Amino acid sequence: MIEREEMEIPERITEADAPAEERDFEVGLRPQSLQDFVGQDDIKENLSIFIEASKKRDEPIEHVLLYGNPGLGKTTLAHIIANEMGSQIRVTSGPALERVGDLAAILSNLGRGDILFIDEIHRMNKTIEEVLYPAMEDYALDIIVGKGPTARTLRLSLERFTIIGATTRLSLLSAPLRDRFGVTHHLNFYEEEHIGSIVARSASLLNTSIDTEAVDMLAGRSRRTPRIANRLLRRVRDFADVRADGHITRPVCQEALQKLTVDHMGLDNTDRRILSTVIEKFGGGPVGLSTIAAATQEEIQTIEEVHEPFLIQIGFLTRTPRGRMVTEHGYKHLDLPIPPNINNQ
Ligand SMILES: Nc1ncnc2c1ncn2[C@@H]1O[C@H](COP(=O)(O)OP(=O)(O)O)[C@@H](O)[C@H]1O
Ligand SMILES: [Mg+2]
Repeated sequence: MIEREEMEIPERITEADAPAEERDFEVGLRPQSLQDFVGQDDIKENLSIFIEASKKRDEPIEHVLLYGNPGLGKTTLAHIIANEMGSQIRVTSGPALERVGDLAAILSNLGRGDILFIDEIHRMNKTIEEVLYPAMEDYALDIIVGKGPTARTLRLSLERFTIIGATTRLSLLSAPLRDRFGVTHHLNFYEEEHIGSIVARSASLLNTSIDTEAVDMLAGRSRRTPRIANRLLRRVRDFADVRADGHITRPVCQEALQKLTVDHMGLDNTDRRILSTVIEKFGGGPVGLSTIAAATQEEIQTIEEVHEPFLIQIGFLTRTPRGRMVTEHGYKHLDLPIPPNINNQ
């Protein structure tokens, strides 16, 4: 018989999207006001002035574009903006808007000051985008009525609404679309102390007791990303409930993280496999992204949006015009001998 423990496959803590059951858990932990939103102080300050000013003028806010890696708080911020404005928010996403009619229906149902949140806005198709331009700029919808020579364009006016767009890939957004946003905010990886505050806040919302040293340990391994911090906390809490008395101490935390194969830098198996593949199969690089993807059997998009940004951020990987290269720190982390010519490859 196989022991249960051996059968456990460590789940991927780096998964970009939250699966459905995790989404409910996330919603429960989501801060509702700017004040409860931890970190990103510059963005918070700008947004609060921006919101205050629109309220004073009694005008809807301008369109807002939020971009940044998965799990940094784009969706959360969109809801906070709506809350702070006292606005209704409707949620959709680039890939969900398949037909022009879908968008037209949504837009014509928006009231003054309502917010339409479009997640993954870079994945919206071109035809839809073109309907969105006049809608964002002139609050108008151009609809073609009839077919052939008798077809004509009808202009429908819309209420003054606000679009909040979120994207992980600003470069995939067309310039005309980008230009139609009044403000753009880039969410960066968080300071470790802010991740610590998020862990402590979430633990308290979950009625879980956790030692300060355990908070610090989780903060250090959460890839400076709130979603991952919450995800790890949840797994560690499960572990503490089953193996300990529910109280999260540092040793409990350490053991749980080991089972999840999260190392002291927060790297998971996939991160380590990416680094070791570049080293072992491609002499440390430079090597192209698609080659890495093929060799590791990971999706290009996952590497590009989830793994690579963090590996670059902590200085284990660099991006050069000829491809990706593992740095000295990357070799050291894997305990592999550093090639003598590492700097002049
Ligand atoms: N600044 C923050 N303070 C507290 N919790 C946060 C913060 N940013 C994100 N979170 C939490 O992290 C999770 C993921 O955030 P989310 O807004 O869904 O990220 P994104 O939309 O950028 O992928 C949510 O549970 C949210 O509550
Ligand atoms: Mg989101």
